[in-house]
Amino acid sequence: MTRKLFVTTALPYANGAFHIGHIMEYIQADIWVRHQRLHGHQVHFVGADDAHGAPIMIAAEKAGVTPQEFVARIAAGRKQYLDGFHVAFDNWHSTDGPENHQLAQDVYRALKKNGLIFTREIEQFFDPVKNMFLPDRYIKGECPKCSAKDQYGDSCEVCGAVYAPTELKNPYSTLTGATPVMKKSEHHFFQLSSPRCVEFLKSWTQDGRLQPEVANKVREWFATDEDGQGGLGDWDISRDAPYFGIEIPDAPGKYFYVWLDAPIGYLASLKNWFDKGGPRQKYGEARSFEEFMASPEVEQYHFIGKDITYFHTLFWPAMLHFSGRKVPDNVFVHGFITVSGEKMSKSRGTGIDPLRYLSLGMNPEWLRYYIAAKLNSHVEDVDFNPEDFVARVNSDLVGKYVNIASRCASFVHKYFEGALANPIDADKFRKLIPVAAVQGREQAIADAIDKREYNRAVREIMAAADEINQYFDTAKPWELAKDPSQRVANSELHEVLTGCLEGFKYLTLFLAPILPDLTARAFRFLGFDAPLSWEQRATCVKTIGVYEHLMTRVDAKMLDALFEPPAAVAAPAPAPKAAAAAPAAEAAEAAAPAADAPTPGGEAIAPTIGIEDFTKIDLRIARIVNAEHVEGAAKLLRLTLDVGEGRHRNVFSGIKSAYDPEQLVGKLTVMVANLAPRKMKFGISEGMVLAASHADEKANPGIYVLEPFPGAQPGMRVR
Ligand code: 2FM
Ligand code: ZN
Repeated sequence: MTRKLFVTTALPYANGAFHIGHIMEYIQADIWVRHQRLHGHQVHFVGADDAHGAPIMIAAEKAGVTPQEFVARIAAGRKQYLDGFHVAFDNWHSTDGPENHQLAQDVYRALKKNGLIFTREIEQFFDPVKNMFLPDRYIKGECPKCSAKDQYGDSCEVCGAVYAPTELKNPYSTLTGATPVMKKSEHHFFQLSSPRCVEFLKSWTQDGRLQPEVANKVREWFATDEDGQGGLGDWDISRDAPYFGIEIPDAPGKYFYVWLDAPIGYLASLKNWFDKGGPRQKYGEARSFEEFMASPEVEQYHFIGKDITYFHTLFWPAMLHFSGRKVPDNVFVHGFITVSGEKMSKSRGTGIDPLRYLSLGMNPEWLRYYIAAKLNSHVEDVDFNPEDFVARVNSDLVGKYVNIASRCASFVHKYFEGALANPIDADKFRKLIPVAAVQGREQAIADAIDKREYNRAVREIMAAADEINQYFDTAKPWELAKDPSQRVANSELHEVLTGCLEGFKYLTLFLAPILPDLTARAFRFLGFDAPLSWEQRATCVKTIGVYEHLMTRVDAKMLDALFEPPAAVAAPAPAPKAAAAAPAAEAAEAAAPAADAPTPGGEAIAPTIGIEDFTKIDLRIARIVNAEHVEGAAKLLRLTLDVGEGRHRNVFSGIKSAYDPEQLVGKLTVMVANLAPRKMKFGISEGMVLAASHADEKANPGIYVLEPFPGAQPGMRVR
């Protein structure tokens, strides 16, 4: 039976470029979608930008543009990533689209009608200068326990105390520096704690659909203590103006909290796709969006990261169910991507820059394969290990899979004019080792991908490739070919080659969801006009094309370049002398220091730059939250820095000879905050601390870390 599937990935906030974590999720979902289509199912695979919320509003204001313009700029940058990694969404939309405004208001009205919305007055910090209520992340102050300065509103990074923002001493708004005042406001709530919500969610989350570890986690959220405390709380779904979001009907000045309209954006993107006629064109789907979603046969799946499980397993199904809509069939939760065991930050996504990966000429399918080889259906983190990456791609894809085609092709062309033995006796054919190797595994491979056990599928595929290669080695076609009687149609030699290429065809089919581009070329080499579907898999290869390189090996140097700071990667080659045309040469000369220039601090002042060059370097005040020795490092200290971003940065600094870690903790300094993260032997360094030293450190030893005048606060820009 043809399945009708509606599939999404989490909608990324429209305030930054994609990082490798996004790309991993998209690859995971894209493989699954391609697999379903390969098996003849209809899939509507959509995404969108998550456009609303205070941070985007504030970022737009800083950039001097409207929030709409701001998110449009971000959206314009999406295609290069998606195309680059062969992620084929049917539609990409925005949660600020008209469909989402309408749908979010419809859902809200239905929930209200159903008696699940109530209002309550709450008291919150308000910035009297900015005239807005302050989300917790924009409030700082002194820790109520240890009095450490500049602590966030939820916990102290110095003593670890946990508290409410209202407990901070001398609180201030990080937006204006003003002292916030407490102000009352009426908020709208979704009554998640109501017995009917709890009953529905207990059933939806515990009926076996969710991954076991996800179901367990959700059970913890339901738990109440002996006094009946804990359990699901009601959900505050409103925010006061100014807010970039969707207006709440009949509540002037009130907007939906971004997390209410974000998942509704899944529906909005699908509606937009239907309204554009996509499903009709692609599958002859005649129904409207509303009719489609009302059909019980439609299955709805969301791929998400583990950090947003709460929203997708509680709020989202409850919103849908109690507004009379279809609920998700499942939510597929994945872990994070780490790089050489190091956790990445969600906001900056340090580690691997996807665009740099592409711009270095690295094949996107290497990454797709590597991720597939590591992903299973559990909520486990996936580690990107550079050495492992090189080994896997080179040994599996090039050494095993592609190798079969390349080693067979020359014999087939040399002795059989590109034609394969055909027809072979069907019984004999099935018993050929390469054919048995793939046919015996096809069900297991298909099941594994369907269950998102991609690593298991890849293991099976490579085991089949191994068998085929071993068969080739044992059959020794090069020996057989020495005998002229073997150089005729349907000889043993011909059958060996035919068997191997038939096996290769199946491997190509199995790998198609993971490697769409490579396998499309491989199918062409096998003489097919278009990639085979699963149903067509038994169609025999008749005549092969000329073998052209299907995939190159990864050069380990590329991985070094991937983790190098950009300056080292993109260092321009010196211009050839003859090419130094007059104006450029003059400009260069004007900027260069004269030969007899004075050398303060042991070196001449560097060539003149314009202010636009200087502003590229984002220098920030940073608080040294921690400093420690690094085992095995002669010169480095590991610094933990707070630049006011709501997270800490790890920076390695070559100042061990000059400072004991204790001297540094608690001090302010200046750091380069937009230096590309650099992978070092001891971990990833996310920036650089500024320090002064003489050019000739041997003759004039001493390293002096910069410290600002009193009053500077972490996060302030140095300009
Ligand atoms: O965590 C995030 O990045 C959110 N923007 C995800 C939203 S998913 C969905 F609900 F829209
Ligand atoms: Zn404290």
